[in-house]
Amino acid sequence: TPLSHIRNFSIVAHIDHGKSTLADRLIQSTDLVVRRDMKEQMLDAMDIERERGITIKANTVRLDYTAENGEQYVLNLIDTPGHVDFAYEVSRSMRAVEGSLLVVDSTQGVEAQTLANVYQAIDANHEIVPVLNKIDLPASDCDRVAEQIEDVIGIDASDAIRVSAKTGVGIKETLEAIVHRLPAPRGVEDAPLKAMLVDSWYDSYLGVVVLVRIMDGRMKKGDQIRMMQTGARYGVDRIGVFRPAMENVDSLGPGEIGFITASIKQVRDTKVGDTITHEKKGTDTALPGFKPSVPVVFCGLFPVDSAQFEDLRDAIEKLALNDASFSYEMETSAALGFGFRCGFLGLLHLEVIRDRIEREYDIELITTAPSVIYHVHMKDGTKIDLHNPADMPDPSNVDFVEEPRIKATILVPDEFLGDVLKLCQDRRGLQEDLTYVGGRAMAVYDLPLNEVVFDFYDRLKSVTKGYASFDYQLMGYRQDNLVKMSILVNDEPVDALSMMVHRDRAEMRGRSMCEKLKDLIPRHMFKIPVQAAIGGKVIARETIAALRKDVTAKCYGGDATRKRKLLDKQKAGKKKMRQFGKVDIPQEAFISALKMD
Ligand code: GTP
Repeated sequence: TPLSHIRNFSIVAHIDHGKSTLADRLIQSTDLVVRRDMKEQMLDAMDIERERGITIKANTVRLDYTAENGEQYVLNLIDTPGHVDFAYEVSRSMRAVEGSLLVVDSTQGVEAQTLANVYQAIDANHEIVPVLNKIDLPASDCDRVAEQIEDVIGIDASDAIRVSAKTGVGIKETLEAIVHRLPAPRGVEDAPLKAMLVDSWYDSYLGVVVLVRIMDGRMKKGDQIRMMQTGARYGVDRIGVFRPAMENVDSLGPGEIGFITASIKQVRDTKVGDTITHEKKGTDTALPGFKPSVPVVFCGLFPVDSAQFEDLRDAIEKLALNDASFSYEMETSAALGFGFRCGFLGLLHLEVIRDRIEREYDIELITTAPSVIYHVHMKDGTKIDLHNPADMPDPSNVDFVEEPRIKATILVPDEFLGDVLKLCQDRRGLQEDLTYVGGRAMAVYDLPLNEVVFDFYDRLKSVTKGYASFDYQLMGYRQDNLVKMSILVNDEPVDALSMMVHRDRAEMRGRSMCEKLKDLIPRHMFKIPVQAAIGGKVIARETIAALRKDVTAKCYGGDATRKRKLLDKQKAGKKKMRQFGKVDIPQEAFISALKMD
């Protein structure tokens, strides 16, 4: 296909505004499934893949479209993840295409996620076509929403397309707009190969599959290729496109998007954003802006049942095969036994991995406090990268400690601004900028990453009723007055609960931790002191009173079902407990105790 007849695009939308429904409609209305038999074929291919347990991870599809002018076009749609943890991946996939459809629910209007993603599209120099969806609904108000798009985002929405992805109204117009309003890709056929590694995933039958966008040159089956950042060399085994099932092609040329397989062993050997070229006569200039996605949030994962340690190792190794941005190493904790110290891109990433281990591998986990990497400068001039607060050296040997800082950009409707500023202040944020864009405030803050990893995002969403959008980038390290706070339960330090805090906030955090633990740890037959300490000095203390009677005693012996319920509840509670010395601590205590209200 000549470059002039290729269009590459992504769809930007807030959750539930109709991105998937629209994508399905576009697929259905192109030549791909015009004939009934072809439609069945396509579904068959996908069913087989599903039966074989292949996850169709690539939400990428190549469509053939005959436009109203009679010309044949190739349309490539790339899906993008929507969350801030994966902002880097989004920005890469945006750079693999030239345009975006901005889908806005015309009954709702512009919302938080729309903004963060549309700014990524603008950054990538996309041509943007606004699409007002759900016009079949009575509450639809296209004029209001178009005006809002112009005010808030600042792009022309006068020729926004009015669509119902549900009924099919406006789909033809959308396809025509893709052809006529989005630019064709640029690229040089005769230049040395330059392709972008857009995404990669593990397929149990094919091994690692790599999604590529060819910038210049041509890639064929059998080619010897080189990844410019990692330096790894491979032979291309298979090359093809998604329609949406995998279909082999002879080669991919400039402007095209497709996949390759090349006997790559693990996903971690492929770096999103890397440049792929030929081993011989390759290009010297890699695509700009490559940065490896590195884990920034660390926590310990331990099996509740220590007999499941090997199962946990197995689960983690399998998950890591398919997720290059997740790191792990073995860890031993005095309190929790054997487990793993794992690194994640952010809190959502952490939660996704933890949930998958619990659900897919059926292993109950204790998750320790998320932490960032601190630089600990010792008095003897050496520097330690501290991944785990439990490993903090004796303070008398420490010269100073540095922590990672971020630049956070928050967009929020005016009415919630006060709460957002307070939240940032509470988290030791320094305001850098405050501006207004079409009825919305944009606050830019310099914040310590460790104040953000616990529950900042949750808090932000809750104080703004979901209307804030948040994005951040790491800025580097800065020295501050940081100390390790230990938590002692029944006079024993629980290493998994120790954390790094700012000295000025230590008392407050210590008190809140002790109060929470007092509520979370059930009463025992004896009194349990819960203390927070810095070095040897206790800074906060609570006491869990001793249990005097059987829990069912207060049911006056009468109601048997109630009694049973209470006992069942106790048993269920027990299951997730972990013993520390003589004290049972429930699993949820490790995360809950750290949340700041
Ligand atoms: P996520 O996948 O959760 O991000 O959502 P999405 O943006 O892909 O939205 P999806 O396509 O799943 O649509 C969300 C809901 O809106 C679904 O219940 C759709 O059936 C419905 N929907 C999508 N388009 C239309 C439309 O044009 N009209 C009406 N009435 N409903 C629609």
